Amino acid sequence: MPGDLERAAGLLGAARRVVVFTGSGISAESGVPTFRDDLTGLWARFDAERLATPEAFDADPDLVWGWYEWRRARARAAEPNAGHRAVAAVEARLPGTTVVTQNVDDLHERAGSRDPIHLHGSLFAPRCTAPAGHPAAFPAGGTEPDEGRRIPPPRCASCGAPVRPGVVWFGEALPVAAFSAAVDAATACDVLLSVGTSGVVYPAAEIPRIAAITGAAVVQVNPEPTPMDELYAANLRGTAAAVLPALVAAAWPGERG
Ligand code: OAD
Repeated sequence: MPGDLERAAGLLGAARRVVVFTGSGISAESGVPTFRDDLTGLWARFDAERLATPEAFDADPDLVWGWYEWRRARARAAEPNAGHRAVAAVEARLPGTTVVTQNVDDLHERAGSRDPIHLHGSLFAPRCTAPAGHPAAFPAGGTEPDEGRRIPPPRCASCGAPVRPGVVWFGEALPVAAFSAAVDAATACDVLLSVGTSGVVYPAAEIPRIAAITGAAVVQVNPEPTPMDELYAANLRGTAAAVLPALVAAAWPGERG
């Protein structure tokens, strides 16, 4: 929409408390495919929504662990892009900023974001499958997994149970503390930037909705329309790496991020 960048920049420049809510689209320009585009190449014969489940791990742990090892290697090889850096620039400008991400990569941290809330866990925090959920380490000197390769999960050093990825799977609850901190931030913010998310996976998708209905202006950055467009104050159609730096520059003209 013409004028949306100016409106969004005005809202951001006047805000005191900002939430940046991100999805896999913000990492697309770092070479990490979005969740729904993730199963390329040899993985294309699988359905992401069926691999990312406790049932899939129970039925075939080597397949699911191999997929996550491949995703972890790819995330580790990726670099933050100008979108992640612009988010860190917002935090530096406004210390009351909270970054809430659905992503399981660590590109926000590597771009300089201080303590992003990971609603769906992390590729880098495996834990064992026993009820205690002992934190686990990756085997040292692991090889870069080939695409499509099955890899047996390691065993927990404390109790011997198989280790699982430290991510939230479909059908599992979000980490309570993370979700509650995200709800609190969404309720208290003046502006929420929703970046690179299709907004269809709940309960994470409640976060921008909560911000909108509790009075914040929500600005969306996405090259495509989403089901949330009508709820938002501004829809910036473009990629995160192109739009976010332009938005930050327009919000605080004269400052260099
Ligand atoms: P999706 O794959 O559903 O959506 C990615 C969004 O990013 C789409 O709306 C794209 O149009 C947009 N997009 C693509 N490239 C972009 C770019 N360069 N800049 C900005 N936006 C871009 O991913 P998510 O919304 O993150 O959950 O998915 C949410 C959750 O669904 C994931 O965390 C995962 C998945 O199920 C779990 O694994 C529990």
